[in-house]
Amino acid sequence: MSAPAALAAGFTAHFGAAPSGTVFAPGRVNLIGDHVDYNDGLVLPMPIATGTWIAWSPRSDNRIAAVALDYRGEEAEFALDGPCPAPPGHWASYLFGMARTCAERDLPAGGINLAILGTMPRGAGLSSSASLCVAIGRAFAAAAPGVHGDPLALARAAQATEHDYAGVRCGIMDQIAVALGQPGDALLLDCRDLAIRHLPLPEDWAVMVVQSGVQRGLVDGQYNQRRRDCEDAAQALGLGSLRDAALDDLDRAAISPVVARRARHVITEIARTRAAAEALGAADLPRFGALLRASHASLRDAFEVSVPAVDGLVDWLNAAIGPVGGARMTGGGFGGAVVAVMPADQVLAITAKLAAERRTPGGAALDISIEGAGTMVAAERTA
Ligand code: GLA
Repeated sequence: MSAPAALAAGFTAHFGAAPSGTVFAPGRVNLIGDHVDYNDGLVLPMPIATGTWIAWSPRSDNRIAAVALDYRGEEAEFALDGPCPAPPGHWASYLFGMARTCAERDLPAGGINLAILGTMPRGAGLSSSASLCVAIGRAFAAAAPGVHGDPLALARAAQATEHDYAGVRCGIMDQIAVALGQPGDALLLDCRDLAIRHLPLPEDWAVMVVQSGVQRGLVDGQYNQRRRDCEDAAQALGLGSLRDAALDDLDRAAISPVVARRARHVITEIARTRAAAEALGAADLPRFGALLRASHASLRDAFEVSVPAVDGLVDWLNAAIGPVGGARMTGGGFGGAVVAVMPADQVLAITAKLAAERRTPGGAALDISIEGAGTMVAAERTA
């Protein structure tokens, strides 16, 4: 059964009537530019095919009732002006958080019945929580007659929900990629002024996303600690953010070696992201791949957010792809997914070899997906 069909069936079974409508928000994969969004840097994410589906129907009271079809049918019901029904990071806390945040910001939020079906892996660095929050906001907007949702306002509400209801002081990359990204396009986002450029992926490039099988949690404090390190570095340099820092500044600053390493990553990663956007525009895949490899090394050695299972997968992919492309960890780190960009005509051979040679640390088969323009090229060649 397709996701929309399973969603409609699940809604009807739970609420006893068919839904009024359905919304979707994708996840995202970040091609390059990690841990720079909260430093006013440049990032290059793109939406992925999987994400969060929500079926909805309005209610006349001020209550929200929801069933999470992919969480063993867990249920939540609460009043908009009541207490939060779940602990931070629980799916129902995001629902409550979005309802409250949207209401506080004069965005639509009212009584509603919801069936939620996530089709993407969670804890994989692919923004499942931003996808959930944006889908919730879209459901509220769809249920409010005459409202045209403002995607930027929605992205900001989703980010505030992550800060206030999950305790993760994330940047704005994920929410903007999810709310404003276009399928098949990378999105070059300047996190300082939120300027956006949609950069179509060349038809003969393919983006592969592979799950390491190590679940990642940003709620455990490591993410916020990295953010504090960056803020400490900027403060020691007398700057508003590391966006304005140069490598030379670090030698003169009174900062610990650890904080200097974090800042070094941020400064070089912003430069790599700018260069990667140029390489993408010039359809220069070898250059793009080299930047991905350098990004991974920096996240592993200087920012220290990778884990051995992810490093092993990245090394395997880089050896298999060779100098014509590249692979790196993607997202917040501490486990999760790996992204590889390669010529589309390598996809079938690499997928087969990868599936034959590698497994997750727990021994399971790898979850491999192909995203973006190259998907169609690869599929045509299969036929
Ligand atoms: C998480 C956060 C983002 C970003 C990435 C790392 O996905 O939600 O804001 O900081 O980590 O690039």
